[in-house]
This record gives sequence, structure tokens and C-alpha cells, in this order.
Amino acid sequence: MHLISINDFTNKQIVKVLDLAEEIREHPEDFQKLLDGKILANVFFQPSTRTRISFESAMLRLGGKVINIGDMAMTSTSKGESFEDTVRMLDDYADIMVIRHFEEDAVKDVKSISQVSLINAGNGMDEHPTQALVDFYTIRREFKRLNSLNVVICGDLLYGRTVHSLIHVLIRFNNRIYLVPGGRRGLNKDFRDNLEYLYPDMTRLMLFPETTLFSRLYALYPEKGLKMFSSEYLRSIANIQIIRSSDSGGDIKPSVLYMTRNQQGTVPINEDAQEYDPYPVITQILLESKFFNEPIIMHPLPRGPELPVSLDNHPRSRYFEQAQNGLYVREALLLLMLNVVKW
Ligand code: CP
Repeated sequence: MHLISINDFTNKQIVKVLDLAEEIREHPEDFQKLLDGKILANVFFQPSTRTRISFESAMLRLGGKVINIGDMAMTSTSKGESFEDTVRMLDDYADIMVIRHFEEDAVKDVKSISQVSLINAGNGMDEHPTQALVDFYTIRREFKRLNSLNVVICGDLLYGRTVHSLIHVLIRFNNRIYLVPGGRRGLNKDFRDNLEYLYPDMTRLMLFPETTLFSRLYALYPEKGLKMFSSEYLRSIANIQIIRSSDSGGDIKPSVLYMTRNQQGTVPINEDAQEYDPYPVITQILLESKFFNEPIIMHPLPRGPELPVSLDNHPRSRYFEQAQNGLYVREALLLLMLNVVKW
């Protein structure tokens, strides 16, 4: 089996990954030889610290071995070899492949020719399913559940692939999502249309035409039968988040504030985008505001100015823990996808 999209896994399989990750965390000694004799190929056509190295560490901790494709300039890709041919070769050299590619379709196109399992470690701006599993695992460790949470996802929703996978998984487990795009980096229409198609009874979108720091707030409601808040009320909440509060926001208060970096620099952007609203930043004032005085702070990293280092010791910061959790989740994935542990 391959993991290209988070939707390649059923809810049951997602829970299995998280359960196994927890077992590995608690009893690492029970797993340390299970992948003896297996080889993982790390095939990264884009830079990575957490994903690539945590997969490598995960494989080594389970007793397996790792080959890295390394610098592209030193491979036959630089002589014009196609990605398909590269994957065909690696198929013979490894038992499982982790692939990050700048083109959205590259990993999708090779899944039918690969004899070994492929794990998508980020395909263009599309998805990053293993990050979503890491995020979901972090959320479950915090709240001891996977549903009925209010999650604010903020930042580059257009190009940030981590949030695309996370949105699917949050909706599938009946969580409420507030989307706060940085500038005009909202979800693109195709993605929103696909959400409407996949979850016809569950998804609704709302728009806040506010000009505050969190200038546009969309909400995805998993409940059938949209629970409507008046635009007046929503507007007041939106203002409260940024300025000061006289209203708690009731049961719509967020449990998680998930921030992402501006992908500018990673992807080409429209020149006009430079002139859009400033990118949101998590500030101490924001975290003390009534709407945001409870949520944990998550971020897939690497960060930019949206997540100041002054927050690293904040009692609600969880982003380094999130990165650490990547190890256990990826160990679990390797064991399951290599069929060494039964699903
Ligand atoms: N979160 C994440 O994908 O980080 P890397 O780009 O360092 O792998």
C-alpha cells in the first residue's frame, strides 16, 4: 500500500498508527529489531530536516537501514534521467520509499509502477500526510480525544501542504476548523470544491470581511445542519481575538492554534501578493486575549516571523514536542506499511 494522500488511510488505520506510535513511545525496546534486514530509501527532491531525518532515525531505531538519494547534482537526474526511471531503480534497492517532490503529480504518477510502498513526504503544494498524522497524534496526546475540538489553522493555506492534509483529517474526525489565511493565502477554489464534494453534509464555509490582523476567518463546520452564528456575533469574536475581549466566545473557543509559515520564497507568487495584508504573527497579546487564552500552539516548522522565538517557553507551546512526535509516528508507519505489524 502507498500513503500519498491522508485519504488513502481509513479512520481506523489512522487510529492504528497513533496507537502504535504510543506503544513505541512507551516500550521502544519491544520494537528495536523488528525491521532488521529492511532498507528505506529517502528520496528527497526538496530540502527537509524533520521529515527526512525523523524517517531515517525511525528506521535505524527499528533495526533497519537507510539509503539517501542525496544531492540531486550527484545523481543521474542531473543527466536527465526521469523520476519514473529513478523510482524503478530504487524499487530494487529498497523495501520502502519516502518521497518528497516539488511537483504535485510526481509521486502520484509513479505509484502504479512501484513494487514497494511509497510514502509521500510532501508533493508540491498538495499534501503532507505524515505531518498530519504527527499533528493528530500531538493533538490526541494533549486532549485524549480526536473529535469535537475547535482548531484554528492560520497562515499560508494556499501553498502550505501540511494544512491540506490536516484539514481532511480534522473534518473526518468531526472537528470544527477556523481558517485564518495570511493575506490572500486562503484555500484555493479546487481544494474547497473538493471538500464540499467529499463531505457534502458536513462542510460549510464562512467569510469574515474584517480588516483586523486576522482579517479573514472561515469556518468549516463538521456538524450536519449548520450551527449558524450571526455575522454580527462572528464579527465581534473576530475583533475580540485581536483587540480585547468582553465575550468568551462560548463553545466555539479554540483548543488548538495551528500556525504555518509563509511559503513565499518556496513557491513563486503573484507580484501583487506582496501588497496584500501583512502576514499574521502570534503575539503574547493575542495569547492573552479571551478567544485565544486556552489553545495550545502548534506549528509544523520550520518557522518564520509568524512564530517568534519568545514563545518557545510559553506553557502552551507544543511545536517542538510535535517535531519529536514525528519519530514515533514514522516508526509506526514503517512497521505497518512494511507489514511487520498487522493493521
Ligand atoms: N514539517 C516539515 O515537513 O519539516 P521539514 O521540511 O524540515 O521536513
